[in-house]
Amino acid sequence: MTARDALGAALDALTAAGCDTPRLDAELLIADALGVDRGAMVADPGMAVPGSAARLIGERVRRRVAREPVAYILGRKGFRRIELQVDRRVLIPRPETELLVEVALELPIGASVHDVGTGSGAVALALLDERPDLVVSASDASAAAVEVALANTARLAVPLEVVVARGLPESKEGMVLANLPYVREDEWSALGPEIVRFEPREALVSGADGLDAIRELVAGAAPGTRLALEHAPGQAEAVRALLADSETRRDLAGRERVTVGVAA
Ligand SMILES: C[S@@+](CC[C@H](N)C(=O)[O-])C[C@H]1O[C@@H](n2cnc3c(N)ncnc32)[C@H](O)[C@@H]1O
Repeated sequence: MTARDALGAALDALTAAGCDTPRLDAELLIADALGVDRGAMVADPGMAVPGSAARLIGERVRRRVAREPVAYILGRKGFRRIELQVDRRVLIPRPETELLVEVALELPIGASVHDVGTGSGAVALALLDERPDLVVSASDASAAAVEVALANTARLAVPLEVVVARGLPESKEGMVLANLPYVREDEWSALGPEIVRFEPREALVSGADGLDAIRELVAGAAPGTRLALEHAPGQAEAVRALLADSETRRDLAGRERVTVGVAA
C-alpha cells in the first residue's frame, strides 16, 4: 500500500462520516502514522506504508469516523508558537483564544499575570514562551486539567505554577486572564459531535446565559483587579457591564471576543 492508497480510503471514510475537513484530517493522521512531515507526504504520495503504520492508520481513521477530534487522536495541538499535549481531560485550545494572549503581550516588562481556567495551560504557556520576563501563574477548577497543564509545563521546561482552584486563587496579584466556560446550557446539544461526544462539558457550559463562571470570577476579584475575559460575541455587552473602564477587543473576523476592564 502507498500513502496515496491510504489517503484515498481515509478521504472516502471521513467524507462519508461528515467531517468538515476530511482531506486535511486524513493527511494529518496518515503523515503522523508514517512519521513524516505532511508536506513531504503530499509531495511524495507514492511512499510505501508499512504494515504497522497501516494498522495504526486504520485505527485512527475509525476514531475520526466516530468524530473524535484529530487533536485528541494525535494527542497534541499547536497554539501560537508552542505545541501542547491534549487529551479528553482538557478543552482543545482554539485559535480565537490567541487574542487573550495578545492582550497580555502588551503588559510592561516583569508584570504579573494569572490565567484562570488554564485547561492544557495554553494561554499561560504561550505567554511565557513569548514573554519570559512576565511572572505567570495559572489555575483550574479541574484537578484533571491541572495534571495536563503541569505535564505541559514540565515538557516545555518553563517556570509556571499551576494550582487547583475555583475562580481566582487568593493572594494573586497582577492582571487576570480567563477563558472560562461561556456556552449556554441550551446551546450544548446543538454543538458539533466532536465537542459534545469528546470535550469536557464543564470546560464549556456555564449556566443559563453562559456567564455563571465569569460572574463568579469578577465577584471574587479584589476591587481594582484588571481582567481580560474571553466570551462569545453576543455576550460582549453583558461582560462589559460586569466591569469598570471596560473595552472589548475583536478577533480577526471582527467579532467581539475579549473584554478588558477592572473589577469594581
Ligand atoms: C473553555 S476551557 C479553556 C481552557 C484553556 N484556557 C484554553 O483556552 O484552552 C475552560 C476551563 O475553565 C475551567 N473552569 C470551569 N469553571 C471554572 C471555575 N469556576 N474556576 C476555574 N476554572 C474553571 C475548566 O475546567 C476548563 O479547563
